Amino acid sequence: MVMLTPFYTMKKSSSAWKYVLILAATGAVAAVGGKVSQCVVDSMHASTQIPPMEPAKADAVARQILEMKCADCHAQDASYSKFWNFFSFGLLSDHVDGAKRAFTLTPDYSVRSGNVDYLKMDYVLRTRRMPLASYSAVHLGSRLTPTDVAILRQKYKEQGAEARAFAPIAAPAAPQTDLEKARIYLGYKLYHDGRLSTNNLVSCSSCHELTKGGTDNLSKSKGVPGPDGYPQLGGVNAPTTFNAAGNIRQFWDGRAADLKEQAGGPPLNPVEMGYACEADWDIIAHKLSNDPELVALFAYVFGERGINADTITTAIAAYEQTLVTPDSAFDAYLKGDEKALTDTQKAGMKSFVELGCATCHSGPTLGGISFEYINTHGDLRALATPAGYNEGAFGLRDFTKKEEHKDMFRVPNLRNVALTAPYFHTGTVNSLQEAVSIMIKTQNGAGAADDTTVKNITRFLEAQTGKLYGKPANALTPEDVQLQPVIPQQ
Ligand code: HEC
Ligand code: HEC
Ligand code: HEC
Repeated sequence: MVMLTPFYTMKKSSSAWKYVLILAATGAVAAVGGKVSQCVVDSMHASTQIPPMEPAKADAVARQILEMKCADCHAQDASYSKFWNFFSFGLLSDHVDGAKRAFTLTPDYSVRSGNVDYLKMDYVLRTRRMPLASYSAVHLGSRLTPTDVAILRQKYKEQGAEARAFAPIAAPAAPQTDLEKARIYLGYKLYHDGRLSTNNLVSCSSCHELTKGGTDNLSKSKGVPGPDGYPQLGGVNAPTTFNAAGNIRQFWDGRAADLKEQAGGPPLNPVEMGYACEADWDIIAHKLSNDPELVALFAYVFGERGINADTITTAIAAYEQTLVTPDSAFDAYLKGDEKALTDTQKAGMKSFVELGCATCHSGPTLGGISFEYINTHGDLRALATPAGYNEGAFGLRDFTKKEEHKDMFRVPNLRNVALTAPYFHTGTVNSLQEAVSIMIKTQNGAGAADDTTVKNITRFLEAQTGKLYGKPANALTPEDVQLQPVIPQQ
């Protein structure tokens, strides 16, 4: 069957020649699949020399490659012919809709450095897994050549983009002044203070215990009791407060911009700490104002600003900024100690990169900096939850109310991940190895992985356990996490 018609349509599409295409029998298309062999991955580490070009010329050539080989599916206004989609058994809509969920080219074809987009691009260039094999099979000449790859990489390098997926966590800056010390200590007191809740028993620490990796290790957290007298359960799993300062936004659906805004949420959450409206902060402030130590601290740190939602959340956020866990085995390795990781962990790290995990789980906290669909290659809910699971969380859509944001979740950070079970926003997977296996099935475009790979990656993630106050986060005692009282100077 030969077709000489544009299948994909794009408003700014150019050269007509690329639409002169041969569609192989659909069976053949399906057979090509999207798998990437290991040797392809390895061969990509060898760099191809490209003849020197004027920067302007190099940029024009790079744009041309993206326009010709990628834009059909990834341009912001990419779409497809409904007519041909029907005859391709939905292949075109799978391509374009799927592409939009994974990655969108900016109008000027730039890729921002330090951004997950750049890491994704770097990954597909390294593995040459794009364009999809089912597309290259029928779009002659659309496969990326080694020269294309070299030109594109050059472009991003000139834009200052470095493939620095991994970086050690920096220790939090030690407080310099008495005022800073007092602010952190006040935040510490409030974080552990049950008076932020209606029954005076539920504190931030109830659900984010420092001795439990900053979580409660429960599938669903227990808040204040409901009408039946039993603790009410939250709708999603509690993420760790460790290193949360590195998150682009807070909560699985991103509804809080930062730690201060986040800290205002739980007290007024009827299920968590039980209060219901802004005016209830007055009740909380009143309870706290009966405590002379707190009154003195608030007066010292905030002066005229008093005790209210603003000062309470500012202090808690200042404390959380210090809940950073540097000095994991992985950090030591990144800083040059080759022996800090075992051979198994090193093999796991290699697979973590080769399977594309390091695109979303990147940067010093291995994640936390983007919102991603949980069902690009497989359905996370189907794999991670029991039949009949009552799902009430749909990610970013719950916050933005935009349908296209359904099932996009803020990527969790993977530091200390061995301590933060159960996993996923559903809190339904107890074993880290199982979580890794599910991620490979749902997020990785390069194909399935064998048991050894899953185990190696799990061992690698176990090397993410860092230190708080100089003690390993998996061995913290209640004494270790106590702060020395700061007595305000009058
Ligand atoms: C036929 C449509 C199509 C074309 C052409 C295409 N892609 Fe994709 N792309 C997809 C789909 C579908 C996905 C998501 C599913 C997947 O990753 O297999 C995707 C995913 C991606 C991702 C996200 C990372 C990842 O591995 O999932 C990047 C980056 C990307 N493509 C870049 C490119 C680049 C660069 C080109 C051109 C060289 C290109 N794509 C050409 C359809 C396409
Ligand atoms: C009853 C249990 C509970 C209490 C009490 C609680 N939290 Fe949480 N916390 C959660 C749950 C559950 C989530 C996830 C909610 C969501 O994403 O919708 C969460 C999310 C967070 C996050 C976002 C982390 C991320 O990765 O997005 C931070 C930070 C946080 N809580 C800090 C606090 C602070 C500070 C307090 C006290 C003011 C507090 N929590 C009280 C259960 C609790
Ligand atoms: C396209 C982005 C993306 C890629 C690629 C990706 N992840 Fe994830 N990862 C996520 C998101 C989003 C979640 C949260 C999913 C949820 O809870 O619904 C997550 C959750 C996890 C968790 C659970 C963490 C927790 O605290 O609950 C682990 C472990 C994990 N990923 C490991 C991996 C591994 C290993 C790979 C490589 C095979 C990988 N991820 C690839 C986006 C990604």
